[in-house]
Amino acid sequence: MGLDKISKETFEFSIKNLNNTFSLLPPYSKNNQVTTVTLKRSLTPETHLPLVTLKPCNPETISPMKYLITGSSGQLAKEFISHFKQSGMDYIAPAEDVLDITDSDIVERVFGEYKPDVIINCAAYNAVDAAEQDSTVAFRVNSDAVAILAAAARKHGARIVHYGSDYVFDGKTDHPNHEDSPTNPLNAYGRSKLAGEEAVIESGADFLHFRLSWVYGNGNQNFFHKLMQWSDNNEVLKVVWDQISVPTYTEDIVAYTLAALEKGLTGVYHLTNSGYATRYEMARYFFKCLGKDITIIPVNSDMFPSPVTRPFFSVMSNKKLTKALGSPIPTWENAVKRFVKQL
Ligand SMILES: NC(=O)c1ccc[n+]([C@@H]2O[C@H](COP(=O)([O-])OP(=O)(O)OC[C@H]3O[C@@H](n4cnc5c(N)ncnc54)[C@H](OP(=O)(O)O)[C@@H]3O)[C@@H](O)[C@H]2O)c1
Repeated sequence: MGLDKISKETFEFSIKNLNNTFSLLPPYSKNNQVTTVTLKRSLTPETHLPLVTLKPCNPETISPMKYLITGSSGQLAKEFISHFKQSGMDYIAPAEDVLDITDSDIVERVFGEYKPDVIINCAAYNAVDAAEQDSTVAFRVNSDAVAILAAAARKHGARIVHYGSDYVFDGKTDHPNHEDSPTNPLNAYGRSKLAGEEAVIESGADFLHFRLSWVYGNGNQNFFHKLMQWSDNNEVLKVVWDQISVPTYTEDIVAYTLAALEKGLTGVYHLTNSGYATRYEMARYFFKCLGKDITIIPVNSDMFPSPVTRPFFSVMSNKKLTKALGSPIPTWENAVKRFVKQL
């Protein structure tokens, strides 16, 4: 049977071959039998529309905006910095020990001195497992500090761009989540990110809030980096198949954030690459692009005990954004290919 309705039960026992099929092998599959799992995709981006591509801006032809980037050593901040540097844009990206976003006095001082037109908040606490043990820092960075930044943006008449997460959803739906789908985070990290988006929405600041999922780029804190490390020491990798979302490349996040700013969009949007994948498929595709021959076995999440419950199907639809911009967002496969090329 195909997966018109995706639920964990039907997914686990789906045995008909369609076009996106993989096998769970004993002893990792249910009842110790080989189980073939099929995921039926419904998201095919329209290809006749032009893609937004990241090209250097000409500072002489764009309005002379001043950008403040927070969380400067994170993977998304680094992508913004690299692009802004190449384009000769007016920006500052203070190190975390210079601009600690949880300190309202420092935030006020930086706003007062630099007077940014746009603040791009890339700072976050993303340690999902650690947040479950002690959520204090997660809430301080992902929620309280966002309220501080948004209040400063409002006071100084700046726009704030903030980023959320697919973990605000419980993953129990059978279709991609839209911007107004009900939220119900399953873990402390997700609750802290939800509190952060509420803070920015309620602040009264001019805001753009993008929910992201499975972010990767140049940095050490992403799934591909972990896969490379694991594959250095192991010939066989076990990767979970029961988490499904959209791998999303920082290069595309930067391109589509800037396109949305240029277009004057405000409000909440899902900014993901198009399509979706299980972690297992993501790993297989990555190694295929790398040309690395490695055996990967799909396993259930409970193979890796964790204090955190992660959503099963936290896929988000990017339709609202692509419609507003008149441009599809490249598929996750296209993005992984580009990422691998520049490694
Ligand atoms: N990574 C993902 O898979 C994922 C998925 C969904 C959504 N997102 C969201 O996407 C956005 C960008 O994420 P990312 O992957 O670029 O994250 P990242 O690589 O973890 O970068 C976050 C940066 O924020 C810094 N930071 C933490 N606390 C700070 C503070 N008090 N003041 C200033 N900086 C602070 C961190 O510094 P330290 O490392 O020193 O703590 C880190 O350099 C975040 O909002 C994140 O929640 C990410």
